[in-house]
Amino acid sequence: MGILITFEGIEGCGKTTQLKLLGDYLLKRGYPVYETREPGGTFIGDQIRRILLNPENKGIGKITELFLYEACRAQLIVEIISKRYRNDKEVILCDRYTDSTIVYQGYGRGIDMGIIEELNRTASNGIKPAITFLLDLDVNTGLERAMVRQAHHEKVQHTQGETAEQENRFEGEALEFHQKVREGYLKIASREPERIKIIDAKKGIEEVHREITKVVEEKFKNM
Ligand code: TYD
Repeated sequence: MGILITFEGIEGCGKTTQLKLLGDYLLKRGYPVYETREPGGTFIGDQIRRILLNPENKGIGKITELFLYEACRAQLIVEIISKRYRNDKEVILCDRYTDSTIVYQGYGRGIDMGIIEELNRTASNGIKPAITFLLDLDVNTGLERAMVRQAHHEKVQHTQGETAEQENRFEGEALEFHQKVREGYLKIASREPERIKIIDAKKGIEEVHREITKVVEEKFKNM
């Protein structure tokens, strides 16, 4: 069987950078690695992603939103993850997964947790991460970082004559929403300390990377 490792955290926590660093690290050590993300990761999923992140879709209902995230996940599971998961030693790295739905749609939007858990189970076909890295960061720092990233994005697009990408729908949410999301993450991490490893995302990139590889090496030793 393969192994699924997921990365979670609020916007600007640096999980995408860390996922790539871990991917390179494992590749160098001879592991087959597959990197993917949610929402997205498939042709169909990328189309759903565009609906979900388009700031013009402010009127989206919270149940509509939930179903779209789950639809995206269900497609990623049938098309990619369940197949890859059958390969021995293959490491699948996923940027966000079922925990994102628990915290954004559950703690953030207030949807019934029972419904979310049921849909998560169905969409993921019961495939659970062996390790989840929660890159924890205070909300102000996270949003600041996300804004800097956004400004850089717009500058690059401007110099290339493309239309500027707007902030995504979630980056425009009130501070309070992001606060609920962060607290939600910390709650689920305290309930599942074996799986969810909290990493202080305020530390430098190299230090965070070292902590992550240490946890992974430890886990692989015991498998
Ligand atoms: P993305 O631009 O990929 O942001 P990030 O770099 O922070 O991952 O946007 C994904 C957004 O979708 C992010 O704001 C979190 C949100 N999300 C949910 O609300 N529910 C989910 O189940 C998932 C997977 C993501």
